[in-house]
Amino acid sequence: MEKEAFFKIQYGLYLLTCREGSRVNGCIINTCMQITEDPYRILFALSDSTYTAELLRVGEACNVSVLSTKAPYEMYRHFGYQSGRDVDKFAGRDDPCDALGLPYPGNGEACVTICGTVSAIIPCGTHSVYVVSVKEARILSNDPAVTYEEYHRSIKPKKPLQAASDTSKKGYVCRVCGYVYEGDTLPPDYTCPICHHGADSFEEIK
Ligand SMILES: Cc1cc2nc3c(=O)[nH]c(=O)nc-3n(C[C@H](O)[C@H](O)[C@H](O)COP(=O)(O)O)c2cc1C
Repeated sequence: MEKEAFFKIQYGLYLLTCREGSRVNGCIINTCMQITEDPYRILFALSDSTYTAELLRVGEACNVSVLSTKAPYEMYRHFGYQSGRDVDKFAGRDDPCDALGLPYPGNGEACVTICGTVSAIIPCGTHSVYVVSVKEARILSNDPAVTYEEYHRSIKPKKPLQAASDTSKKGYVCRVCGYVYEGDTLPPDYTCPICHHGADSFEEIK
């Protein structure tokens, strides 16, 4: 298996938000696409281990906002590299809400916002695919949507955050979020406790 082959698949980047009672949360996803037009349906894939998935399975409504090239790295760090189980990601933010009462990025970080309700959940091992019946779709700006390729090329910091400052550690660093696993051997089934990417996303600290 040449894992670099999968890097050639093109994606956008999105902020997925949901609400269950008084609990509101959101995370970054790159896996979203439209499936039908009549009626409008989209789908996305989400790790079952995320807090967002936990809320979504109860709350059913969700918002998927298409991030633009204006979204700063801080947006990805805030929503994509930490869990709502540990931090209230919407505390101190003043985001507007969509027709279903879900927050979407209100500071120019998104160019489109779409909300709807989950109509099917397809389990796929570590992740599930969610089919969403769209209730509302709105254009927020004419800024271009960011691509996953552009995120890796010019938004994500080049050096892993922690490894860059601590090269004395023996271990492995997560290429996605910079988390450092200390030890001689990385277990093949290891999952990053910060961003939930698997052992494939780690590289040895030389
Ligand atoms: C660029 C980027 C793309 C991501 N894409 C996905 C994705 O498609 N599916 C997914 O489950 N997690 C994805 N993640 C990871 C989640 O955003 C991350 O696990 C998040 O911390 C989950 O937060 P939560 O526990 O509050 O739901 C991505 C993260 C980043 C930074």
